[in-house]
Amino acid sequence: MEDDPVVRLEGIEKSFFGVPVLRGVDLSLHAGEVHALVGENGAGKSTLLKVLAGVHRPDSGRIVVRDEEVTFASPRDAQAAGIAIIHQEFTLLEHRTVAENVFLGREPVRRGQVDRRALEADTRRLLDWLGEDGIEPGTEVARLSVARKQVVEIVKALSADARVLAMDEPTAALADNEVELLYGLVRRLRDRGIAILYVSHRMREVFDLSSRITVLKDGAFVTCAPTADLDTDQVVRHMVGRPLETLYPERTGVPGAVRIALRGAGNERVRNLTFDVRAGEIVGLAGLQGSGRSAIARAIWGVEPFTTGTVELDGVPTRVTGPRTAVRKGIGYVTEDRKGEGLALRQSVRDNALLVRRAACRGAVARQAADLTRLLGEVGVVARGPHQEVRYLSGGNQQKVVLGKWLAVRPRVLIVDEPTRGVDVGAKQALYRLLRGLADDGMAILMISSELPELIGMSDRILVMHEGALAGELPAGADEETVMALATGHGAAA
Ligand SMILES: Nc1ncnc2c1ncn2[C@@H]1O[C@H](COP(=O)(O)OP(=O)(O)OP(=O)(O)O)[C@@H](O)[C@H]1O
Ligand SMILES: [Mg+2]
Repeated sequence: MEDDPVVRLEGIEKSFFGVPVLRGVDLSLHAGEVHALVGENGAGKSTLLKVLAGVHRPDSGRIVVRDEEVTFASPRDAQAAGIAIIHQEFTLLEHRTVAENVFLGREPVRRGQVDRRALEADTRRLLDWLGEDGIEPGTEVARLSVARKQVVEIVKALSADARVLAMDEPTAALADNEVELLYGLVRRLRDRGIAILYVSHRMREVFDLSSRITVLKDGAFVTCAPTADLDTDQVVRHMVGRPLETLYPERTGVPGAVRIALRGAGNERVRNLTFDVRAGEIVGLAGLQGSGRSAIARAIWGVEPFTTGTVELDGVPTRVTGPRTAVRKGIGYVTEDRKGEGLALRQSVRDNALLVRRAACRGAVARQAADLTRLLGEVGVVARGPHQEVRYLSGGNQQKVVLGKWLAVRPRVLIVDEPTRGVDVGAKQALYRLLRGLADDGMAILMISSELPELIGMSDRILVMHEGALAGELPAGADEETVMALATGHGAAA
């Protein structure tokens, strides 16, 4: 890396409401490198990206673009300097075409009208340059898969001549089988000389893609080193400040009585499901995006109920017609969409954690609030206090609040859908222990996850879905290939 960096951040400091979040962070990005930025939840990664992208102004420190110090008053300024950012939430207009989205607000004009032909041709050129031939410029965005939408988001960011691309947990929204698409794109961008800053909690990904790694801890710079000189344990130690022993807790208990049983259950999305989850068990639910995993969760939870077959809770046939009934009957559901369904963003951490409890049993809130602090401590929520609004928490800490909500009511059956998405390794370990502890206390847990190592590491059994039906059941410790074979419709059912 002899050449000068495209961008240099020097001594960046930033506080919110008087609380320092970045404390003198240095970072340089070179053309043609993937530079990974890692750190625990709340370490300041997203904030640093936002400083780079002109969303936040640093309180002090310098931003140097090609040897010239700059100040960004807005994201527009950063864009003009060739810096693009992909936030975790997509910003696309679903009902416009790919081309319209890519050039939104910058459409080529001819004789006072948008030149549609040029618009689509320019988009085509960008897609070709990126080697993305699976996407048509004229397609409505709503019809694309999540992975393809992300590609469009990236193309849009690059269309303004970006030299630097910052990506905040880009694989968090993708299923395992879609991740390769993104990897390919990141590598092609790197080969075309773009400098890429890549935030991720998935160590495998960090090591697969990056050539350098910078670690932040509590807003401070810890180290920056070539990826080749580091291993996962070292990076984790830098992040967490101590070595992590085993990530997954030991499978302890002998499963007890059947808590939830499905008998030939089905609806529009899934069919003929027959399986049990016993007290003390964590049963993993594997499958590709759209295979029906979340549909099962939503059906048990009563939002899109089963229309055929039966569900029994502790041996009693039960009809769950909506979330309210589900909560009353002792079913908990941690949704995969924490922004949409899991959290009231403008309410405080405390109010969010008490939300389910209120639905479960009205009144007595004051008394229940007493052990809330302990609960939030158990899941390790890093907030300034129980009254902080949830929208100001870092992504991973929001996820912990969602889980904390359910700890407060201790349901009989808990369904968790992508429970550790966006959660740092240290906190993951804590969450895993928590889930195992809940199972040991007699809860029946159904766990959906697109991260296969996690699913395999945690589950006592794994049910694999394929196109709306069960493709098979695997014992604890099954290997990834076997799970994938069943999930893709190959391999014999167990
Ligand atoms: N707009 C804001 N107002 C107040 N506090 C904020 C704001 N944005 C971030 N913070 C706080 O700054 C700290 C760092 O947050 P940041 O989102 O940068 O963390 P992160 O490293 O991206 O974490 P994660 O891995 O969970 O995404 C957190 O404590 C967060 O609560
Ligand atoms: Mg973040």
